Amino acid sequence: MAPAVAVIGAQWGDEAKGKIVHFLAKDADLCVRFNGGPNAGHTVVDQYGEIRLHQVPVGALYPHCLGVLAQGMVLDLWALREELSALKAQRRPDPKILISERIHLILPFHKVREEREGAADRIGTTRRGIGPAYEDRASRRGLRFLDLTNEELLRERILADHKTWGGFDPEQVLAELLLFREEFEKSVGDAQGRIASALASGKKVVFEGAQGTLLDVDFGTYPYVTSSKTTVHGIPWGTGVWPEFSAVLGVAKAYTTRVGAGPLPTEDHTHFGEKLREAGREYGATTGRPRRCGWLDLVALRYAQKINGFTHLALTKLDVLSGFSELRVAVAYRLEERRTEQFPASSWELMRAEPVYESLPGWEKDIQGVRDFGKLPREARDYVRFVEEAVGVPVALIGTGPRTEDLIVREDLWS
Ligand code: IMP
Repeated sequence: MAPAVAVIGAQWGDEAKGKIVHFLAKDADLCVRFNGGPNAGHTVVDQYGEIRLHQVPVGALYPHCLGVLAQGMVLDLWALREELSALKAQRRPDPKILISERIHLILPFHKVREEREGAADRIGTTRRGIGPAYEDRASRRGLRFLDLTNEELLRERILADHKTWGGFDPEQVLAELLLFREEFEKSVGDAQGRIASALASGKKVVFEGAQGTLLDVDFGTYPYVTSSKTTVHGIPWGTGVWPEFSAVLGVAKAYTTRVGAGPLPTEDHTHFGEKLREAGREYGATTGRPRRCGWLDLVALRYAQKINGFTHLALTKLDVLSGFSELRVAVAYRLEERRTEQFPASSWELMRAEPVYESLPGWEKDIQGVRDFGKLPREARDYVRFVEEAVGVPVALIGTGPRTEDLIVREDLWS
């Protein structure tokens, strides 16, 4: 079996997947983004400093790893150019990337449309044009990278969009798109074929999920979701390959956060929530918005496990929980006097759910940078074991700080 590891957000995004992918890609040949676009913000802290990647796959930070932008993504070429410049500015080696020729493009009017149609405010989107680009893809009006060779089609489409939406200079956009065609020509090709042949020849492939299970367009807290498939099912959907995984890793923060509108049963409006936000630096990597914070929600996490079939969990930012005398975790919800352990399919119902908490003892000791499970305070180890038992899968990785090496590795996910 070719070793393939899926890295999937198990909550509402921002689970520190960037760092986990960076750790796994150290040994990988390919790192594949299959969903979303510049709405993602995957943060890595390594010897070059801190970088937030939005569209470039994290694995491409290593010269040995090819970053693939598969056709399930939507790509903003203007943002990609900026991202590549940010990498250069940190004197990092040029990343090796392969962009699917089938990838749909985010065009300037997608952002204009997102504002005008009100989704930006209603859902609290990242305002990156993601929703309208996926809408155009579904309604068969989208432009794909391969269409950049068809100048006539491009002009017709851009003029039509300008007439409807305005807000940009059509001639300038056309000229820039033609330049992008040249700039990225060598990086574009058959991503599906490349991933499939890598898997067939036993190469190691890490699939880098963006956003999280509860933002999935089908299984998330609809309509407060993103427009793509963020679950493990997003991998065949967004790449055209059906890998056999050596691990399906659900990444969950040791507490819960969310940006944008929508239900968040364990949200804490007291000083606890505030303390989590400050200690965890919980401000959006893409938009800078303060994240809504609260306790770990095991009802939601068990649901994410059910949907994705995680074989393992990564529990990140455990160090942020140091200094709380008591830690709460939601083990069930109360819905109109009824106790349930099921995650409701309806967001309206979820908004009325009252969490039922269990309290666990906290710990004082600063655990930042701890790399050995045995060196954690007993209460921290018990917290991890409580999560394992509740979700029914082992916690293979534990994050203890922002740097990639601030990690406790309890299992090799490649074998
Ligand atoms: P969109 O993906 O920009 O359309 O935003 C839809 C919803 O998903 C909003 O609630 C966003 O805040 C949320 N979202 C999108 N991308 C991310 C992410 O990478 N992390 C966390 N939330 C995200």
